[in-house]
Amino acid sequence: MTYWQADMETMSRADLEKLQLKRLKETIQTAGNSTFYNKVFKEQKITPDSIHSLEDLKRIPFTTKEDLRNNYPFGMAAVPIQKCVRLHSSSGTTGNPTVVLHSAKDIDEWANQVARCMYMVGLRNTDIFQNTSGYGMFTGGLGFQYGAEKLGALTVPAAAGNSKRQLKFIADFGTTCLHIIPSYATRLAEVMQESGIDPRRDTKLHTVCIGAEPHSEEQRKRIEELLGVKAYNCFGMSEMNGPGVAFECKEQNGLHIWEDYVIVEIIDPITLEPVPEGEVGELVLTAINREAMPLLRYRTRDLTRIIQGKCACGRTHKRIDRFKGRSDDMLILKGVNLFPIQIETILMKFNELGNNYLITIENDEMQVEVELSDLFTDDYSQLQRLTKEVTRQLKDELLLTPKLKLVGRGSLPVQEGKAVRVKDLRKF
Ligand code: COA
Ligand code: AMP
Ligand code: ZN
Repeated sequence: MTYWQADMETMSRADLEKLQLKRLKETIQTAGNSTFYNKVFKEQKITPDSIHSLEDLKRIPFTTKEDLRNNYPFGMAAVPIQKCVRLHSSSGTTGNPTVVLHSAKDIDEWANQVARCMYMVGLRNTDIFQNTSGYGMFTGGLGFQYGAEKLGALTVPAAAGNSKRQLKFIADFGTTCLHIIPSYATRLAEVMQESGIDPRRDTKLHTVCIGAEPHSEEQRKRIEELLGVKAYNCFGMSEMNGPGVAFECKEQNGLHIWEDYVIVEIIDPITLEPVPEGEVGELVLTAINREAMPLLRYRTRDLTRIIQGKCACGRTHKRIDRFKGRSDDMLILKGVNLFPIQIETILMKFNELGNNYLITIENDEMQVEVELSDLFTDDYSQLQRLTKEVTRQLKDELLLTPKLKLVGRGSLPVQEGKAVRVKDLRKF
């Protein structure tokens, strides 16, 4: 068995925990320089010296997305901004987005994390890696880019969309590996079929890294079958750098979460107490190898569990199961995260629109139905103009294009009690 960093990946649990404690203390030292943690640590009387074991982590309060929003843009920075070389930010202009800052060292460590994951699934510097993720603020773009370069692969930063061009690159450059959102993998396979391309006969593809949105084991198998590849689940989130936080090994039985980078907790999202090992709860992560913006006890809102037992690959880092859902109302569509409130905020800006709306997600498309208000005069061209303008504003906000349907007053079901605004008909 070969590893990217054998010493780190196969370290004994005792040594790993020793390393975690050392890094946790260093992180507390660094994080204390940020406006946000400075206040938290003072209130809770936390200093690096007051942390004697990993158990003491529990003395630190949770950090939430709300904290990032409230400290927008730089209130979480633990180093002077001059030391930062990159920021990633969430989409959306309704309210403050979140900002994540990176120093040069952070970017290098993140690239190492991704390279480690890619190596783990058999990718080498002889591979040709094509990234179909959005670049820019989506961390799946630059995150995988830097990781694949560190691995030494030839990279094809194709970015999202334009499936015909993706296929041309795959054929002409001899692409062997893709990073691709699961829903887009099935779409790309359809386009291949329509174009008469047999991936086994006409391409050199052997591996795909799939992540950024929930998917089932059946969906993975379907992707493997359709593209003639092995598909590995990869998990990342912008607040913890991006892709590379956890990744499946060749056993395809859970994702190794790199514990030299993060400390893992699984909590009950209601009581906020730890769940018994192996039970499903919310993933909470503490970054212990970041300098620009380390987050402590960050509530990811993702629901998963620890897979117990040793992995046959020899790696000692814990494994998490594929995600079971979220403990908030965030939706992920085409690899893009969104909150229903973002849609509501845009809709409410238009006097011609009423209060009742329904978001339906089916076959990876989103339909937004919204009732017109009394202020709408029954005019077809006005309806077209309005549809166009609301769609444009929704796309600007969400970074994807919903199908908008403006309907007459009273057309949508009236909800008793708490309104159900979202019907997600996808199966994960
Ligand atoms: N990744 C890459 N391409 C995608 C995609 C995805 N998740 N979902 C759809 N596409 C393709 C479509 O098939 C279409 O291709 P075509 O040009 O061959 O027809 C093209 O992108 C446009 O998609 P469409 O659904 O018509 O437009 P949209 O405005 O609703 O969505 C996207 C725009 C797809 C560009 C936007 O949703 C996106 O950037 N998604 C990727 C997000 C990402 O990379 N996340 C990773 C986070 S780590
Ligand atoms: P972002 O910060 O935009 O990268 O989005 C991070 C979120 O995407 C996570 O909190 C998860 O909800 C989701 N996500 C990322 N990877 C996966 C995956 N492999 N499976 C399911 N959901 C994922
Ligand atoms: Zn393994």
